[in-house]
Amino acid sequence: MKATSLTNYKSYHHLPTLAGLATIEEAASPGLGIDACVARLKRYHYAFRRFHEIFIARITAEPIYELKTGFSHHAYLCAEHVQTLRVRVGEMREPPLGLEAVPDQALEILFDEILAAPTTGELLVGLYEIGLPALQAALALHMSETNPLADAPSIRVCRFARLELADMFAFGAQSIACLVTPAEREAMQPWVALLNSSLAVAGGLAGANARVERPLVRQYSATPYVYDRVPQRDERFQDLHNQGVNPEAFLYNPQYPARAKTLMMLFKRLREVDVPEMMAGIIHETKGKPWGYYLDMSRQLWDEARHAMMGEVGFVANGVDWTQARITYNWSLRLNTECTPIERHAVLYYIEQGLMAKTGKRYEWEVGVASGDPLMATIQDYDWADEVLHAAIGREWYIPELGNWKDALDFGDRCWTKIVSNWADVREKGLTRHDNWWPVIYRQACANWGVEPDPAALAFDESYAGQRADLKAVSGSA
Ligand SMILES: [Fe+2]
Ligand SMILES: [Fe+2]
Repeated sequence: MKATSLTNYKSYHHLPTLAGLATIEEAASPGLGIDACVARLKRYHYAFRRFHEIFIARITAEPIYELKTGFSHHAYLCAEHVQTLRVRVGEMREPPLGLEAVPDQALEILFDEILAAPTTGELLVGLYEIGLPALQAALALHMSETNPLADAPSIRVCRFARLELADMFAFGAQSIACLVTPAEREAMQPWVALLNSSLAVAGGLAGANARVERPLVRQYSATPYVYDRVPQRDERFQDLHNQGVNPEAFLYNPQYPARAKTLMMLFKRLREVDVPEMMAGIIHETKGKPWGYYLDMSRQLWDEARHAMMGEVGFVANGVDWTQARITYNWSLRLNTECTPIERHAVLYYIEQGLMAKTGKRYEWEVGVASGDPLMATIQDYDWADEVLHAAIGREWYIPELGNWKDALDFGDRCWTKIVSNWADVREKGLTRHDNWWPVIYRQACANWGVEPDPAALAFDESYAGQRADLKAVSGSA
């Protein structure tokens, strides 16, 4: 059609044209062909896959809780967009083959460098100021250059990805403003220049710009990145080996009031921050699985981070300073340093299987309801639902590894009993005195509730001493 026919064309009764996608004039511009479109989609797919890898790899050893949980969230979002892009590429006369290939050596350097960033500040700037904005710009370019009618399915994929990328930037920008000093920023300039050069050499993340010829010299990724499996925590987390309070013994004792029990449940929720620390290692160190595995495992990892944050919210809502409790890392530290990835997955499945019993998640929800605190009922209601999902994820991805349900469960049991209790060991090494933190927490909550502490509940003083290390398995913390 000529330009005049395009501008003169009127829809029936001036109704929106083309199902609301675009004007006729916009859709009459040819845009990207399938080959060009697929080449770009593969680059976005690669970018999301590498961002997912980086977020996962950096969860365990990132000390700051807000970043640890933020990375858990963003890893999951990236995993979802990887999945969506894989489906879209598969719709475009393209066999799914080729999605594992590196589309551009310069982009590989960009992501390798961010993965290997030695400080939290550099990691944040690399991710949220360089890498993710480059992807956001590439998606915007795609939406403006492709045919809005012919390639509407890709545009939809780009739109949804951009929404979540915007949320990720907001988190990243605020985190950088809180944490990165001007001196740090100054010191990282040569490295930031390397990241920007990598993008320029790649012709932008979409590969749509003229490629700049420039030598790229790897800095932090000159030696291959090694995953740090030792969990780290910020200074609000004290006495990390403490096993001085056994919340399960309190929770399952009918003599104690439901409201006091909610505090033990909140402790168990917040303690779950050790699950992302452990699951990150499984995901990072297990190679060659179908993407569905990484997607499901990342979803579960994110759920466990949410469970920890639900514990945080519950404590704050009850006027309790949770830093006075001992949110330990004994579990993730030991599994990460003493077990292989499949052994860790076996333990996780073994625990989650136990949570489906009558004494597991249903009981915790009943206690939440009985406490009269509607927030506790909500927390435990969703925690229970998530757990049902996690058991299904285990059935799908872990059991087939071992062949059948019984062998899978037996293996989980054996792996877990391999981790014998270190209660005495850590005390003898002077790592903890296993102090009883419970009365402090309980008194704070009672003061907030305006009630006198229940004398029996206040006097609770049972630790994990003499308990099998797998007590967690029958009571549930994952
Ligand atoms: Fe959980
Ligand atoms: Fe779980």
